[in-house]
This record gives sequence, structure tokens and C-alpha cells, in this order.
Amino acid sequence: MIGLQPEGAKKPTMRAYSIASPAWDEKLDFYSIKVPDGPLTSHLQKIRAGDKIILAKKSVGTLVLDALLPGKRLYMFSTGTGLAPFASLIRDPETYERYEKVILTHTCRQEAELSYGLRLTRDLKNTPLVGKMIGDRFLHVASLTRENYPLTGRITKLIRTGALFENADTPPFNPGEDRVMICGSMDMINDTRSIIENFGLMEGSNSSPAEFVVEKAFAA
Ligand SMILES: Cc1cc2nc3c(=O)[nH]c(=O)nc-3n(C[C@H](O)[C@H](O)[C@H](O)COP(=O)(O)OP(=O)(O)OC[C@H]3O[C@@H](n4cnc5c(N)ncnc54)[C@H](O)[C@@H]3O)c2cc1C
Ligand SMILES: NC(=O)c1ccc[n+]([C@@H]2O[C@H](COP(=O)([O-])OP(=O)(O)OC[C@H]3O[C@@H](n4cnc5c(N)ncnc54)[C@H](OP(=O)(O)O)[C@@H]3O)[C@@H](O)[C@H]2O)c1
Repeated sequence: MIGLQPEGAKKPTMRAYSIASPAWDEKLDFYSIKVPDGPLTSHLQKIRAGDKIILAKKSVGTLVLDALLPGKRLYMFSTGTGLAPFASLIRDPETYERYEKVILTHTCRQEAELSYGLRLTRDLKNTPLVGKMIGDRFLHVASLTRENYPLTGRITKLIRTGALFENADTPPFNPGEDRVMICGSMDMINDTRSIIENFGLMEGSNSSPAEFVVEKAFAA
């Protein structure tokens, strides 16, 4: 959770956020939506260097590698700012120690929304700790739903039509080899989850690791 203390208000305005920077980084990055009249982000988007933000001491979440079994390929499916937890994980050496191939998908409505993810993944080869590990083991698959782009369509459509596997040069999901993490809106999570369950993948947790995990704060 991060937040701001509005002037004159009794309580701070706090919201859940993913830390977008890798665990080894000494600074914290956040990747945020700007909701024009949002109680937090209408103010957050105006902060300047030196301003104070509030950061909750405890961090929680279900999008963790420990809830997944070992495997060959790790898919990370994100929409919009759901990219944030994966912005951290793709820069974490443990991700590449556990999986041979890492495929990050990011689907947005318009091209401008892809820019943070594109910049991050373009710089990955120069990122400390992981830069020398990744070789051709990392792949970024970007798609748009409301503008023309080389790849268009929701992640659910890309999986159903096979376009995902064609673009990533991978076989269809197989519970023996594939692991999946999902982050986006509640509808996106639920729809994507039901598709991958049809391939035989099961949801994992820290106490019982399995084949996929979703951000539990949203999912029904
Ligand atoms: C576990 C968890 C992690 C989150 N991590 C992030 C993160 O890393 N980055 C981030 O920007 N947000 C994240 N959010 C959303 C975040 O908590 C706030 O909703 C967001 O900061 C907007 O706050 P607000 O007070 O300005 O508006 P709110 O009153 O919270 O939201 C107003 C409306 O804006 C829309 N909205 C809010 N957030 C988003 C979003 N991220 N993408 C698209 N539409 C949205 C929704 O329709 C919502 O009803 C996360 C939410 C949860 C539950
Ligand atoms: N750790 C975390 O849990 C975390 C971190 C960051 C953000 N978030 C959350 O992530 C969400 C990001 O919002 P958002 O994904 O709604 O972003 P968005 O920017 O509103 O939407 C992005 C894309 O999702 C597609 N989409 C919508 N419904 C879908 C569905 N049922 N199945 C597949 N794709 C679908 C949209 O396609 P269309 O154009 O066809 O509608 C659009 O291209 C927010 O709810 C935010 O709170 C969570």
C-alpha cells in the first residue's frame, strides 16, 4: 500500500500498489495509472522530488515464484498497469534460475500505454544481475486492442487462436512444462484463468505450489 496525507484530512488516502523495481534495487519504483478524479492518483501525479509519500511496512501478494512448481517456461500475462509486478520479476535473477524461457505479454488499449514495458524490456540486456543471464531466454509480446499494431487482440484471444504460441515460438500449454502468472483487471484474470485451466494447469499457493498464480486481491 502507498498513500498520501491530504492537507486537512484526518486519515491518509492509501491504495494497493505493486513494487515495480526488482528486489535487489535500493530504490522503489511504482508504475501508476492516473485516474483524473481518483482520490489518490489525482494528487499522486502531481508530486515532486522531495515530497513525502506513505509506504505501508508490510507487503503481501500472491504473484510469487514460490507458489509455482519448477518448469521449463514461465509466462507472465499482464494488461495495463498489471505489468508492474512483472516489471520487478523480469529483473530478478531468480526468475531465470528457475525457468529456461520467460515470456511476458502486455496488452493495452493504445500504443502509448505500451511505452514503459517496451523501454524496460529493451534495457533488460543492460540491467544489473540479469543482463548477462538472459541471452535469448526472455521474450516480450505486446498487443493492442483499440489501435492497429503488429499484434492485436486480448490475451484471451491470442491464446485461443494460437497467435501467442506462434509469436513466442512455443508449444500449446502443457502442465508438465508451463507456468503462468496473471495480473490485470478482475475480468481479465478470471477469463484468462478459465482458459488455462482448460489446458490442465492448476492454481498454486505458497503452501501448495502448482502451475499458475493470479493476483488474489481481484479474482473472484
Ligand atoms: C493488489 C493491487 C495492486 C495494485 N497495483 C497497482 C499498481 O501497481 N499500479 C496502479 O496504477 N494501480 C494499482 N492498483 C490499483 C490502485 O490500488 C488504485 O486503484 C489506483 O491507484 C487508483 O487510485 P485512486 O484513488 O486514484 O482511484 P480509485 O478510486 O482507486 O479508482 C478509481 C477507478 O479507476 C479505475 N482504476 C483504478 N486503478 C486502475 C488501474 N491501475 N488500471 C486501470 N484502471 C484503474 C477503476 O475503474 C477504479 O474504480 C492495484 C490494486 C490492487 C488491489
Ligand atoms: N499486483 C497487482 O495486482 C496489480 C498491479 C498493477 C495493476 N493492477 C490492476 O490491474 C488492472 C489494470 O487495469 P486493466 O487491465 O483494466 O487495464 P486497462 O488499461 O483498463 O485494460 C487493458 C487491456 O485489458 C483488456 N481486457 C479487458 N477485459 C479483458 C478480459 N476480460 N480478458 C482479457 N483482456 C481484457 C482490454 O481490452 P479491450 O480494449 O478489448 O477492453 C485492454 O486492452 C487494474 O484493475 C489494477 O488495479 C494489479
